[in-house]
Amino acid sequence: MKTPNMLYGTAWKKEATSALVFEALKQGFKGIDTACQPKHYREDLVGLGLLKAYELGIKREDIFLQTKFTPLEGQDPNDMPYLPTDEIEIQVEKSFETSKKNLKTDFIDAYILHSPIFPGTKLLRVWQTMETFYDNKEVKQLGISNCYDLDVLEYLYHHARIKPTVVQNRFYAQSNYDKTIRAFCLHNGITYESFWSLTANPHILESAVLNHLANKYQKSVAEIFYRFLNHIHIVPLNGTTSTQHMIEDLKISEFELSNNEIKTIIQLLD
Ligand SMILES: NC(=O)c1ccc[n+]([C@@H]2O[C@H](COP(=O)([O-])OP(=O)(O)OC[C@H]3O[C@@H](n4cnc5c(N)ncnc54)[C@H](OP(=O)(O)O)[C@@H]3O)[C@@H](O)[C@H]2O)c1
Repeated sequence: MKTPNMLYGTAWKKEATSALVFEALKQGFKGIDTACQPKHYREDLVGLGLLKAYELGIKREDIFLQTKFTPLEGQDPNDMPYLPTDEIEIQVEKSFETSKKNLKTDFIDAYILHSPIFPGTKLLRVWQTMETFYDNKEVKQLGISNCYDLDVLEYLYHHARIKPTVVQNRFYAQSNYDKTIRAFCLHNGITYESFWSLTANPHILESAVLNHLANKYQKSVAEIFYRFLNHIHIVPLNGTTSTQHMIEDLKISEFELSNNEIKTIIQLLD
């Protein structure tokens, strides 16, 4: 399944996760992002939200379901899907089994390594385990998150038998908006997904440029920015808790920014 133009993000929603996932799917979101990382995500409740959505007639095959393997450093030692003493391959396998169980599915559309692992040889051990899920047709795409160093992405890309097709990163000024990473992604057919798109960029949302366009198109500045991200080949993650925002954001494909308008917003990333 092709990656939708926007994914619903499920971090930090705690007990509200199932109701919000259900609401997002009911309103029309076609993609869900989660992680097997109980510290920040209730992946089990994402699964319950999905079950509720299926009762509406929505089909598993029509949803792009994405989850992550979170390495030890990102886990709560008292609540994690594997043992710290397990070999890393076993950690990946246990986490993946938990994800399938939580999400009540036998396939995952995109399986993401939550952050790079060092040294490279260890990263490849993890990746090769993820590749076996692809070989077994349990995963359709593999990806990596929080990868801000092009050398690391290139290393992975060149050594991987099954190439990464997703990069999920924070979209912010400190990384120069990942300009070189995004160029690499575009060149190699990798989907670039952004998070913190709104929260890290209040200066852009408050800019005269965005406010002028919001006025012109009768949209919110958030909608203008999400639309812009799609225009420059970025798939934003959107974790809104508001039904109104869901409804508005899902309509961004209904209008087009002109090339000049896109260029003007691109200048705000300099
Ligand atoms: N890979 C990683 O390490 C990583 C890290 C962080 C996040 N993520 C993923 O990215 C997802 C999104 O997280 P995020 O940090 O980018 O922030 P977010 O959860 O999308 O937060 C967006 C904020 O902007 C507000 N907002 C205002 N207008 C909005 C609009 N029209 N549409 C949407 N939000 C609007 C929201 O408030 P309202 O709720 O009131 O709309 C919310 O406070 C997470 O749920 C998670 O899946 C991944």
